Amino acid sequence: MNVQTENLQTPYYYIKENALLYDVKLLENALKENWGNFIMSYSVKTNSLPWLLTWLKKQGFYAEVVSEMEYDLACRLGYKDDEIVYNSPIKDRAVWERILLAGGYVNLDSSRELEWAEELAKTYPSREFKIGLRVNCLLDSLIPGMETSGGKRGRFGYCYENGVLGDAIKRLKGISGVKIAGLHLHTSTQSRTVETFGALAGMAVKIADEYALDLEYVDMGGGYFGGSPDMPSYPDYFGEICSQLKTGFDPKKTKLIVEPGVSLISRATTLVSRVLEVKEVPEGSFIVTDSSRVYLNPMVTRHTYPHHIEYAEGEASSRESRASQWVCGSTCMEHDKLFELIDEPQLIPGDRIVYDRAGGYTMCLAPLFIHYFPAVWIEKEDGSLFQARQEWTNEEYLQKNFW
Ligand SMILES: Cc1ncc(COP(=O)(O)O)c(C=O)c1O
Repeated sequence: MNVQTENLQTPYYYIKENALLYDVKLLENALKENWGNFIMSYSVKTNSLPWLLTWLKKQGFYAEVVSEMEYDLACRLGYKDDEIVYNSPIKDRAVWERILLAGGYVNLDSSRELEWAEELAKTYPSREFKIGLRVNCLLDSLIPGMETSGGKRGRFGYCYENGVLGDAIKRLKGISGVKIAGLHLHTSTQSRTVETFGALAGMAVKIADEYALDLEYVDMGGGYFGGSPDMPSYPDYFGEICSQLKTGFDPKKTKLIVEPGVSLISRATTLVSRVLEVKEVPEGSFIVTDSSRVYLNPMVTRHTYPHHIEYAEGEASSRESRASQWVCGSTCMEHDKLFELIDEPQLIPGDRIVYDRAGGYTMCLAPLFIHYFPAVWIEKEDGSLFQARQEWTNEEYLQKNFW
């Protein structure tokens, strides 16, 4: 147990700056080695912790935003309009215009944005606007035999297969003062395979060729694995992506934009919780902790919670082993049971359970249910501790309420 953190009030998220730096460099080097001309843009929705957003800005990141609120947050934290990548099917028109006027990146995703582009060009007849288009394509058809999306089409972007993308391209090409500068390929997959990203990069080449697009950027989005030793990492993804892109684009002319979210931060983030009580039942024991599913997986999509245990009194070898201990959370929901320890040393109040690679999304996504946001502590590069967020209380909750 780290002496400094021993007395911190649990639960709290913990971010190791060294580990963050490791993944930033891993990404940067993979992009440098494979492409050279790139923009790293961080997916703000993944984790919008103000400390993190400003830290990433210092590392040279742009902000990838999907709402007016995220845009406003990024601006307040120092991002300029030309350091923004704006995605989403429901954009705010004023933000959309401001970013385009400033030379930031906007990837269109709806028919009303095509109208806006016509109106923008009319309003500013002497300007040239560089605009990107989000591509919707069926992944399974790109990698035959690999059921990447289980035949399910994503709901974002303009559909390639039925010609909607082609129509959007034709319409934009017909607007004087508008240039199709980029394609956006972000596609969420459960599998996050390297092959999928290679196929998506190949799709960018194919579309640019088919529609004679002279692209200034290809945006590959996010959705990579990161921080897991048994999974692919940035060098694998960008080796494959860039070898595909090189078949149709020149790195000197066309920028590669990336929008990593959780892959960039999961190695660095953990959630620290404490055992509060042990409840005996005939089948074993319930270990009541101050963590919760709400902080780890509110959508209840996961069944494993990588973790390690820090025993309160040093070695666990002197403790009796228990056949079944169910580690439970602090909410009053019956299903707030996290995992079962089988034939493991008996846990006691004061033991700490540290969830590894936890909080990437949930640090800011956790619902304000029963308890509010936990604190966030940063272990700085020099080993010192910095509190990036205090635990939320009713001070925050009661704001803007009237009774
Ligand atoms: C457009 C876009 N870019 C980037 C990301 C980040 O994805 P991840 O956190 O999986 O890297 C997302 C997440 O869904 C996204 O929708």
